[in-house]
Amino acid sequence: MPGICDGFQRGIDYLRISVTDRCNLRCIYCMPSHGVPLVSHQDILSYEEILLVVRAAVEIGMNKIRITGGEPLVRAGIVDLVRMIALVDGIQDISMTTNGILLDKYAGRLAEAGLHRINVSMDTMKPDRFRRITRTGDLSDVLRGLQSAREAGLDPVKINVVPMQGINDDEIKDFARMTLEKGWHVRFIELMPFDAAIGLIPADRLHHEIERLGTLEPHYGLAGNGAAKYYRLPGAGGTVGFIEAISEPFCNRCNRLRLSADGTLLPCLFSTDGIDVRAPLHGGATVHAIKQLLLDAIAAKPEMHRLSNNCAAHTRMSGIGG
Ligand code: 5AD
Ligand code: SF4
Repeated sequence: MPGICDGFQRGIDYLRISVTDRCNLRCIYCMPSHGVPLVSHQDILSYEEILLVVRAAVEIGMNKIRITGGEPLVRAGIVDLVRMIALVDGIQDISMTTNGILLDKYAGRLAEAGLHRINVSMDTMKPDRFRRITRTGDLSDVLRGLQSAREAGLDPVKINVVPMQGINDDEIKDFARMTLEKGWHVRFIELMPFDAAIGLIPADRLHHEIERLGTLEPHYGLAGNGAAKYYRLPGAGGTVGFIEAISEPFCNRCNRLRLSADGTLLPCLFSTDGIDVRAPLHGGATVHAIKQLLLDAIAAKPEMHRLSNNCAAHTRMSGIGG
């Protein structure tokens, strides 16, 4: 069954599931240094509950799942969740977004459990700077994780970079070069102004800078969910992608719903309130009942988000996973 349409003729076939709001990093654009108030363990959906939502999603025609966090690899048993989702009839694509710190340990098991592809956040290739941006992280862990993901056969492996004025903007070309020299897929994500007053770098400026290495040719066909626009430098094995969430929102191509770790269905990344599925799930709701809540969330999808460069949203990325 094809994905169901929302009120704006967009096919909704993609569910992003945040499995935890916890994280082993404290990235400057995502969290304050002391972290954020955490959802208590009993308010986090169990894997069985998540699986029931996945079954309901498949029944209304959704077929792509992304596991996010916080950091999904800090939740115990995450490989089992991937395996259970992979076994649901009708699921065509399972991906994950991770900060890569624990990826070396998990890449092989995730691939074996049925994960297809993975996105890894890495905002700098300089160890000191990595420590400053993430406040606690060790870059070498991520580099090892990337290698292991590739060796495990996860494909594509995409590197997410959030360019920030005065913080990592001198590395744009170095990241683009990784698509040439190592065949990595690199995506530049415009900073979303959730919190700190860090300046974003618009995609057209990045584009311009990268083109000093060669002409970027549009590229189609890399597995993904439509948020990024992809290009390729001449002779590159990898692609350069741009996600212009602020300067050119992809809302008209939006194909997704989000499920937060505490069981709220969010019609939009920037929704300030959502539809609670936790209480119904705790009360023993059936797949049929959850299906109706998914349909309600799809019906509530706005035409586009109203976030601009100088207006902060109310939710933090750590609870909904980007
Ligand atoms: N703006 C843009 N991207 C963000 N991420 C986290 N917070 C923000 C933000 N405020 C990114 C992470 C990760 C993806 C899930 O979202 O770096 O790559
Ligand atoms: Fe960084 Fe992602 Fe963790 Fe936020 S959730 S602190 S962006 S790694």
